[in-house]
Amino acid sequence: MKRIVILFSGNGTNLENIARKLHRKSLLISKAITNNPSAKGIERAKRLGIEVEVIDHRNFACREEFDEALVASIKQVEPDLVVLAGFMRILTPVFTDAITNAINIHPSILPLFKGAKAIERSYASDMRVAGVTVHWVSNELDGGQIIDQACFHREDESLEEFEARIHALEYELYPKVIEGLLQGKYPQKA
Ligand code: GRF
Repeated sequence: MKRIVILFSGNGTNLENIARKLHRKSLLISKAITNNPSAKGIERAKRLGIEVEVIDHRNFACREEFDEALVASIKQVEPDLVVLAGFMRILTPVFTDAITNAINIHPSILPLFKGAKAIERSYASDMRVAGVTVHWVSNELDGGQIIDQACFHREDESLEEFEARIHALEYELYPKVIEGLLQGKYPQKA
């Protein structure tokens, strides 16, 4: 069975969704790694029997040292794919040069609304569609090659309703892309 590692920082709902749909079915989650010792996702992962490793970024002098520890932890299990799911750290070339099979999900139709508060900025825009993107992780924040996207037509909805639709789309798209990549159903990374 193919193996993945999941990186997360907060709530962990994408982690939980991926675990419930795919873990021990079409793939194995070798472990989950978080930079945040108080991430809610830690409990979610443990409840689903997934090993969690905490690598607190505050224990490192700089981003590069943190990335070195992260890379070492990932390399221990040599996963087929590294899945970022709400991982809120800017990665340096120490990570991106060593880990070339990492993907991320971003809650906007990239290349629009890169970076923080993408849902709020997308909601505040006059665009009539909104959506989510899965892309390869590169040196540029939310700028790596796009793998797949999903979108919806906007209604007259509150920010909370809009956010819920974005998350629902993430829960549909991310497992599909992860499985698809592991089964060679998407084009190779350029
Ligand atoms: C998601 O909206 C994801 O697109 C973004 O961060 C959020 C993580 O949510 N990168 P969760 O931790 O998976 O609940």
